[in-house]
Amino acid sequence: MKKAFQLIFFIAIPFIFSFLIVPSHAKTQMDALNHLTRVKFNKTVGTGINSDRFDPAILRGIKILSQKGLKEKDRIERLPGQPAETLKFNQYGGYVTVNQSAGRALYYYFVEAQHSKDSLPLLLWLNGVPSHAKTQMDALNHLTRVKFNKTVGTGINSDRFDPAILRGIKILSQKGLKEKDRIERLPGQPAETLKFNQYGGYVTVNQSAGRALYYYFVEAQHSKDSLPLLLWLNGGPGCSSLGYGAMQELGPFRVHSDGKTLYHNHFAWNHAANVLFLESPAGVGYSYSNTSSDYKSSGDKSTASDNYVFLLNWLERFPEYKNREFYISGESYAGHYVPQLAHTILHYNKKANATIVNLKGIMIGNAVINDETDVKGMYDFFASHALISDETAAQISKYCDFSPDATTQTVECNDAAQQADMNTFALDIYNIYAPVCTSSKLTVKPKRISSVIDPCSDIYVHAYMNRPDVQEALHANVTRLDHDWESCSELIRGWNDSPTTVIPLLKEFIANDIRVWIFSGDIDGRIPVTSTKYSIEAMKLKLKTPWHPWVLKDQVGGYTQVYEGDLTFATVRGAGHQVPSYEPRRALSLVMHFLSGRPLPDISYL
Ligand SMILES: *[C@@H]1O[C@H](CO)[C@@H](O)[C@H](O)[C@H]1NC(C)=O
Ligand SMILES: *[C@@H]1O[C@H](CO)[C@@H](O)[C@H](O)[C@H]1NC(C)=O
Ligand SMILES: *[C@@H]1O[C@H](CO)[C@@H](O)[C@H](O)[C@H]1NC(C)=O
Ligand SMILES: *[C@@H]1O[C@H](CO)[C@@H](O)[C@H](O)[C@H]1NC(C)=O
Ligand SMILES: *[C@@H]1O[C@H](CO)[C@@H](O)[C@H](O)[C@H]1NC(C)=O
Ligand SMILES: *[C@@H]1O[C@H](CO)[C@@H](O)[C@H](O)[C@H]1NC(C)=O
Ligand SMILES: *[C@@H]1O[C@H](CO)[C@@H](O)[C@H](O)[C@H]1NC(C)=O
Repeated sequence: MKKAFQLIFFIAIPFIFSFLIVPSHAKTQMDALNHLTRVKFNKTVGTGINSDRFDPAILRGIKILSQKGLKEKDRIERLPGQPAETLKFNQYGGYVTVNQSAGRALYYYFVEAQHSKDSLPLLLWLNGVPSHAKTQMDALNHLTRVKFNKTVGTGINSDRFDPAILRGIKILSQKGLKEKDRIERLPGQPAETLKFNQYGGYVTVNQSAGRALYYYFVEAQHSKDSLPLLLWLNGGPGCSSLGYGAMQELGPFRVHSDGKTLYHNHFAWNHAANVLFLESPAGVGYSYSNTSSDYKSSGDKSTASDNYVFLLNWLERFPEYKNREFYISGESYAGHYVPQLAHTILHYNKKANATIVNLKGIMIGNAVINDETDVKGMYDFFASHALISDETAAQISKYCDFSPDATTQTVECNDAAQQADMNTFALDIYNIYAPVCTSSKLTVKPKRISSVIDPCSDIYVHAYMNRPDVQEALHANVTRLDHDWESCSELIRGWNDSPTTVIPLLKEFIANDIRVWIFSGDIDGRIPVTSTKYSIEAMKLKLKTPWHPWVLKDQVGGYTQVYEGDLTFATVRGAGHQVPSYEPRRALSLVMHFLSGRPLPDISYL
């Protein structure tokens, strides 16, 4: 294509940083936007932001200053590092004063057209900020950034995960609490009577600190007394299993665009199991601690211990599930949480020489497993999906060292990583083909539901979870917390420990006959299918069933490969990071096969 337009202005080009190795002095667009969104959503006290519709500014005295000689002064001879050949166009850059008394000036960069500059039009380009609230991505990027910040030491303990040594696990009396936790109905819930029970409430995990985790539990739509118990965890770190898992992915309801009514998810996982959603660690969603310093000391280990103590107490509250087959599933950073909780369960079962928790299997999706292969796979996915240039990909592969013992990264690596960021930041990296949300407004009437999840769902869920009637129905926020419910926590700052790999834990499960399924939505760019394949390859397992398509309803649902020791890898075709949001039918089929231990159907089922 010849350059179709002529003159381009770039005003105030924002700094964009690699989420790998970040120059330490700046914020990303996302941070800036988050700050604004946050302030705007803070309705409690008034935001100080005028949110009336936009009217033309009334300017007192527009001043056009003399610009004599400034054009020639602004001419850029050549940019440092510019390719050698002579350019076919002129470049200019400089300041224009827009308010003399205040001394306010805007910087511009101007490139004339490559041909016909005297006739082609003038185009002004402004970078804005795509409108998302804080997402799972921000939370995960933050951790990744800190972990790869080798310059000064991260402060994050990246030793391999050891069993939590819990000083005095306390199982408190849970008498009468189950019935108190029963949810009669959720505000805005569809009118008809439900085929399942819902519960929600707090479980104290540390009495002296006053720390309690919030759970939401939906029993199965049929055969609740025999179907297994499945715990779902979202990642972040710091993201809510209620806000993502329950309300946007695999729960029985989703929130309409009005932020107050609900509709059925026909592929909810409680068709296959009794499903428990846990907001963890304390500080996420409705979960809290009365000892606010707990928010500063979160990490993988404390999360696993609190989750374990939660589980023991919850089973005391719901004793009919004590001996039930138990499975744990989750996505993203739950690639750490799920194996670490499973490991803790095994550790205490062994110690007691008894089945305290009847753990049968784990399933993780688009999961953080092994930092080195996760990051390498991400850039390879970018390159193979035409998101970055071959040159950038080659430079990353040549100059970056993602191994755990890398002590520094080269300038060439940083430059290439930054280039990759610039190429991808405007995408929804969680689903590279999905539109991004462009309006943070609720609608008066619910928008028509489409089969594809609305990219603005985060906003609808945020509104719903912050409604007092919803919190009352859920038995949430009973202590009147001083902050809003957020889909990803803003309270949790810093993260104490995060091992570089969970592969030793996965191997332990294989050795202990715990079923392991690893799935991947194949259009996620953040923890993409390439990363997961590399991580599994790093385990060096023996293949049992070679790679083949799996089918559902006469279509290829994805691809699968099974390893000896009962480890199944399965892709979900056309799904982003939140697999059940994008391919709900395929996700339900996947979890049904996982729970029953049946292999995914091959092409002979077509
Ligand atoms: C890297 O670590 C140093 C020292 O802890 C800190 O000052 C800097 O902000 C960190 N950079 C990032 C991107 O986290
Ligand atoms: C809302 O505004 C109040 C007063 O300015 C402030 O104390 C509080 O932290 C804000 N909450 C959020 C979530 O920004
Ligand atoms: C210049 O900016 C100041 C704020 O810094 C404002 O008070 C003043 O009205 C502006 N002047 C004009 C002419 O717009
Ligand atoms: C409870 O949490 C506090 C931190 O807030 C910790 O010091 C203490 O050891 C915990 N107690 C138990 C029994 O785990
Ligand atoms: C936290 O403090 C509030 C207010 O004192 C109390 O009602 C609540 O029970 C405490 N939470 C826990 C888990 O102890
Ligand atoms: C564990 O329990 C079984 C019976 O459930 C018993 O046969 C075995 O000896 C026990 N092992 C240890 C080390 O206590
Ligand atoms: C809890 O309730 C208070 C009002 O009592 C509200 O300001 C706050 O946003 C709520 N927080 C959460 C996490 O639900």
